[in-house]
Parts: sequence; structure tokens; C-alpha cells
Amino acid sequence: MKDLEWSYVLSVGNDEIDEDHHKLVKLFNMLNHAVMEGEDLNYLAAVLEELINYTAWHFSHEERLMVKYGYQGLNEHRVEHQELIKAVRELQQKVSKAGNSISEDDLVFLERWLTEHILSTDMRLGSFLAEMMG
Ligand SMILES: [Fe+2]
Repeated sequence: MKDLEWSYVLSVGNDEIDEDHHKLVKLFNMLNHAVMEGEDLNYLAAVLEELINYTAWHFSHEERLMVKYGYQGLNEHRVEHQELIKAVRELQQKVSKAGNSISEDDLVFLERWLTEHILSTDMRLGSFLAEMMG
């Protein structure tokens, strides 16, 4: 599939969060390339694990900023993060059962998984932080 492109469309207006998201986009593209180039299945599993671990770290980064600046939507946002991690861990288990092969559908799922949260929930947080942090 096509690479995810980083652009202002994905920017939430806060540099710290944008940097993390940019890195997530790069990791997604790395996985996409690995699939397209028919990389070793153990390698695919390793890239997926790296993407998930970075995402988990990034979520805790956002949650720290929400706590620091007293963001009202913290609980709701945190629940969404937990659901996203659960969903991607389920995908990881499915992939692992399939001997670590990652399908086009899996990549489509991951692309949506990544962008839908950025374009909705993180945009609201980004506007808030832009006001608080400048
Ligand atoms: Fe978020």
C-alpha cells in the first residue's frame, strides 16, 4: 500500500506531540516497506513490536501532558488509548498465529488505527495544549 505521508493535515498544533506522531508514521512506513519487500517474518514481528512499544510510550507522554495542564478530557482520552493498545495487541496475536505474516488488510487496519485517533481525539488535545503551552 501507499506510504503514509506526514503533512500539516496530521499536525495537531503542538510540536512535542507532532514529533511523536511523525515517528509513528515513519515506523508504520517501515512496516509497510518490510511487508512489500517480503522481509523475513521475524523481522516483520519485530517492527510491529517496535511500533506498538513506541505507541505505548507516546500515549503515556500525552497522558503526562494532560495531567500537567489539567486537561478536562483526560479520562475519555485515556480510555481511547487503552482501547487502541488492546486492538493492536489483538492484531499482533492474530499475526503471530498466522506465523507473523502481515496482510494488506492488516496494514489498512493499522493505518486507520493510527490516523483516526490523531485526526479526532488528538486534534482536540493539540488545540488545548497549543493554548496552554504556546
Ligand atoms: Fe492520543
